[in-house]
Amino acid sequence: MKKKTANSKSSAHKKGTASFKEHSGWWGDGPVFVFLYSKKTKKAITNGTAKEILQFIEDSEHVLHESEALRIIRIDNEYSHPVLFVDTGKEAGLDFLDHLRMAAYRLAKWAENNSVKTLMIPPLVDDSEKKRDAILQGLCHASYAFDKYKSKKHKKADIEYLFADDMEIDGRSLQAMFSGIDLAKNLINEPGGYLTPTIVANIAQGIAQKYGLAIRVRRSKELEKDGYNGILTVGRGSQNEPAMLTLSYRPKYKNPSHLALVGKGITFDTGGICLKPQDKMYEMKSDMSGAAIVLATIQVVAELKLPIEVDAILCLAENRPGENAMLPGDIFKAKNGKTIMVENTDAEGRLVLIDGLMEAATLGATHVIDIATLTGAIQRALGTSIGGLFSNSEGLALTIAEAGAESGEKWWRMPLDEEYAEDLKDKVADIRNITDGGPGAISAALFLKEFVDKNLEWAHLDIAGVAFSAKGYKYTEHGATAFGLKTLVETVKRYSVDETRVRG
Ligand code: BES
Ligand code: ZN
Ligand code: ZN
Repeated sequence: MKKKTANSKSSAHKKGTASFKEHSGWWGDGPVFVFLYSKKTKKAITNGTAKEILQFIEDSEHVLHESEALRIIRIDNEYSHPVLFVDTGKEAGLDFLDHLRMAAYRLAKWAENNSVKTLMIPPLVDDSEKKRDAILQGLCHASYAFDKYKSKKHKKADIEYLFADDMEIDGRSLQAMFSGIDLAKNLINEPGGYLTPTIVANIAQGIAQKYGLAIRVRRSKELEKDGYNGILTVGRGSQNEPAMLTLSYRPKYKNPSHLALVGKGITFDTGGICLKPQDKMYEMKSDMSGAAIVLATIQVVAELKLPIEVDAILCLAENRPGENAMLPGDIFKAKNGKTIMVENTDAEGRLVLIDGLMEAATLGATHVIDIATLTGAIQRALGTSIGGLFSNSEGLALTIAEAGAESGEKWWRMPLDEEYAEDLKDKVADIRNITDGGPGAISAALFLKEFVDKNLEWAHLDIAGVAFSAKGYKYTEHGATAFGLKTLVETVKRYSVDETRVRG
């Protein structure tokens, strides 16, 4: 496998070990052999017994480089090969495959920083295909860079990874997945001033054309005609016209299940008239993460030609305090006839999502999953590593949670307790968009539930805590994580093969 990666500054090294600079370039000529092991569990991942490896590391006097989880030792044989020992257990609390992804990510970063040209990875022990795939994913994650706005671009370096086994590599799946991840991350990282609903619509149209997807674009006039007043109301304060996009993938051979994916696409969330505080407000350029993820998901599904019908619905608007902006207290009527009072203009995500949920019901979907950076409350509840999962279906919730676990994305099922729905009742309109305190993430999910067709299996994914990381998270250094994309692709895959899933 050959991969393009960037080349930048040299990495840190501990005092007491040989200086890194002395040897820099030294290992660039021949291949560097890689051994993966776990220091904590004393297990070897690549061939060789861990005991021998650990003993070898302890005994060696030829340490060329040492950091927390990487150690390079020169083996005194006729070639004097450098051997890299990678600890796969450095991070706490990760699933085993995610440890491998992280180890491979660190390995690739080290290689690109040190101009290593070839790395040789020996055969893996037990369940080797899954492990090899996880390693490949980690290597691919390391090559992402958002340098569009840097005047000095990353210098690309060619690194060759040689897998010393005879397993087939499913390059097509990997390629499809990572072009999806690149697409989602690039969209999410774009500044709000550039990425308006119109720009997203143009990009989606290009994708639809390339992959033969049907696309329907509704602008203000069509939204008004069809009663999609949530997107219209939120978008009113901005000069950048809102839009709803519906992309449809219809394969030749299909499955009884039909999935509709709905994404929150607030291209920038200022909070509207209920303006947000300035601190970290720039992060709200990522408030369209859900829309980017559903667009990327349908692209991956189409590229893999999965035998299942999928729709991606993007609810796009900019939330701004403009001249025509919605005011706190304003009331509008949703497509299903319910009247909504906008008590807080910053709780806009739920107002655009309900239009997407009602659109899903018109398309004949059996399952609908919405994904949204919806509430600060979910971040307070679950932090920045776990996404919130709400569902009216045991089967769908289980599939999503399992798909996530397999992908290195953690989800925690939250309650949809009707008792809390009482507080959403309004004195003037049928329903209001906030509650008086209480469990914010649950209230938001219960608000959405009011607009979900009762015959649909539905799940709501709140990714407000996990979508964007300013200081880096796992295989993301800064910015968009695309959290949720791998889960959604894996979920679609599972529904495309399993026809006997019971209804929850
Ligand atoms: N886009 C925000 C949610 C958010 C917060 C995303 C932090 C990412 C990080 C959403 O539109 C919002 O502002 N929600 C309010 C709702 C409140 C007014 C009921 C919130 O969570 O504070
Ligand atoms: Zn908001
Ligand atoms: Zn928002």
